[in-house]
Amino acid sequence: MTGNQTFTIIKPDAVKSEYIGAILADIQKAGFAISALKYVRMTVAQAEAFYGVHKERPFFPDLVTFMTSGPIVVAILKHDNAVEEYRKLIGATNPANAAEGTIRKKYAHNVQENAVHGSDSDENAAIEGNFFFSQCERF
Ligand code: CMP
Repeated sequence: MTGNQTFTIIKPDAVKSEYIGAILADIQKAGFAISALKYVRMTVAQAEAFYGVHKERPFFPDLVTFMTSGPIVVAILKHDNAVEEYRKLIGATNPANAAEGTIRKKYAHNVQENAVHGSDSDENAAIEGNFFFSQCERF
C-alpha cells in the first residue's frame, strides 16, 4: 500500500533563477494537487535538523550553507503513489543523469544545486511535511 502524499522543496538555486512559477506549473500539469504551500528561509539549525540523516556525509556542511543561502518554496503534494510518481517527475539527484523532460534536467545546475527535493519514502514524506506545516496549513 503506497501513500498519496509527498513533500517537495524548490531550492534556493531554482528560486534565484526565477523558476518557481515554471516548476509549480510542471507539478500541476503532471497531475499533482498542492495540499500545502509556503515561502520560507530556513535557519542553519533548521537545515541541520531537516538534513540530519546526511550529517556524516562529506557534503553536509556545504548542503546546509546552500539550503540556507536564500528563500525556498516548500509544499505537500497529493497524487496516487505520490513518492514514486514525484521522483519520476523530478529525475535523478544529479541532473547530469536526469532523464529528458524531468524537472532536474530542465532547471538544476549540479548534484547539490539540484532545483528540487522530493521525499524518498512515505515515512519521510510525513516527517518532512510535518516539519514545515501544521494541520491548519494543509488542505
Ligand atoms: P535532496 O534530494 O534534497 O537530498 C539531499 C541533498 O544532498 C540532495 O538533494 C543534494 O542537494 C545533496 N547531495 C546529494 N548528494 C550529493 C553529493 N554527492 N554532493 C553534493 N551534494 C549532494
